[in-house]
Amino acid sequence: PLPEPFRVPLPIPRTLDPIGSGPYEDRYEIVQRLGTSEIVPGLRTPIWGYDGTFPGPTIESTSGRTAIVRHRNELPVPTVVHLHGGRTPPDSDGYATDLVLPVGPNANTAAPHAGHGMHDPAAVITTGVRDYTYPLRQRAAMLWYHDHRMDFTGPAVYRGLAGFHIVRDATEDALGLPRGERELPLMITDRAFNEDGTFRYPSLDRTLGSGPGVEDDYVEGVLGDVILVNGAPWPLHEVSATRHRLRILNASNARRYDLALDPPPPGGGVLVQVGADQGLLETPVAHDDVPIAPAERYDLVVDFGRYPVGSEVTLVNRLGSGSTARIMRFRVARPGADDSVVPERLAEPDPLERGDAAVTREFSLRGGLIGDRHGWLINGEAFSPARIDARPRLGDVEVWRFVADLHHPVHLHLVNFRVLSRGGGPPGPHDAGPKDTVDLRPGESVELIARFDGYRGRYMFHCHNAEHEDMGMMANFEVG
Ligand code: C2O
Ligand code: CU
Repeated sequence: PLPEPFRVPLPIPRTLDPIGSGPYEDRYEIVQRLGTSEIVPGLRTPIWGYDGTFPGPTIESTSGRTAIVRHRNELPVPTVVHLHGGRTPPDSDGYATDLVLPVGPNANTAAPHAGHGMHDPAAVITTGVRDYTYPLRQRAAMLWYHDHRMDFTGPAVYRGLAGFHIVRDATEDALGLPRGERELPLMITDRAFNEDGTFRYPSLDRTLGSGPGVEDDYVEGVLGDVILVNGAPWPLHEVSATRHRLRILNASNARRYDLALDPPPPGGGVLVQVGADQGLLETPVAHDDVPIAPAERYDLVVDFGRYPVGSEVTLVNRLGSGSTARIMRFRVARPGADDSVVPERLAEPDPLERGDAAVTREFSLRGGLIGDRHGWLINGEAFSPARIDARPRLGDVEVWRFVADLHHPVHLHLVNFRVLSRGGGPPGPHDAGPKDTVDLRPGESVELIARFDGYRGRYMFHCHNAEHEDMGMMANFEVG
């Protein structure tokens, strides 16, 4: 039986303390290990967790201060850590073949990952530990870190390898947005469970490089019927009748949501968007609903003062039905004094224009055959570490045009971009602000504009439906 909705309190992942700090950097340590979590009340679910928890601990950084995170892999399999949305040098970006081999009693050192070196001579493989260096020369934004191993991202993230990394800066801090207990990071995922409480993921223990770690039937991606927020099923959170900042991440493998509050307050427009994946919008935008694809983030301010004290307000999913039509509930439990504001001006306008672009590139994202298996292709090709698909020059502005057969949330590493056009027209109402992931809709073309600066080297771009990614829908660009 499914757990009862709106019973479990909303957990907030713990903030990780640095193990040391210098004048310009903070050092952290995370152990990736097996753990258990009571997700369905009364049952223990085995997970793969950063520090053994799902979600992993939250890292809070200041823009421009380097975070050095030492990951130790005590899981059974190799792992790769990627800081999603990070402007990161290539050797710390978690390239899909830069494996950290497992150590410790659970390490399975037998066949499954032997031969990894043959597929990518450029891969840098370490055993046990790896230090990832994040200079974080980027504006305030809510990033997240997750596993990114070639062919196995879907099963690894599903088992729990995901956490928040929040970057702050003085400009954002000065705005007066809700903070402290009125700022809520919300990681939304869907999961399916077996009777005994274990996650139901149709995984295959293939040898790395011989195919995806998910069964061939799951070409659309793996969906679950239980919606978790910060690892808890349909949680309940009590709020005061004041503004709250909801920092929403869709960390689901394949599920898209259309989020709304039920009931809406009189007048609507209750979801006031202040930021996108990569940080603040120029001006706030009020929405009645926000569609969110895997890996996208929305930074929303909701004024619960628009509801009478005692109200129950449900965050619903208009794309779901039955158990997947609801996400969590807020109870407006008490009045409160509110000194937060949502300024009319949040950030400087983005200066990039189409005329700045040195190059326009085109990419199609479509289903196709990889050998005799159904897979997902970019410009007709399945992912290979050996092939560079685009070579932007360091500092150049480029326009990338994508066209898709079905929904594909496309993500570029390293850069932040703006949506320049959608379906041949202007960007949609939810396309504003600096982004790193954009949902392509069936048959529709989307153009992005980005400056490729920061670091030279090889980076990935891919569909963030994790099963599509594992089934080939990934490619490389090399900044030179
Ligand atoms: Cu969220 Cu390439 O990843
Ligand atoms: Cu896709």
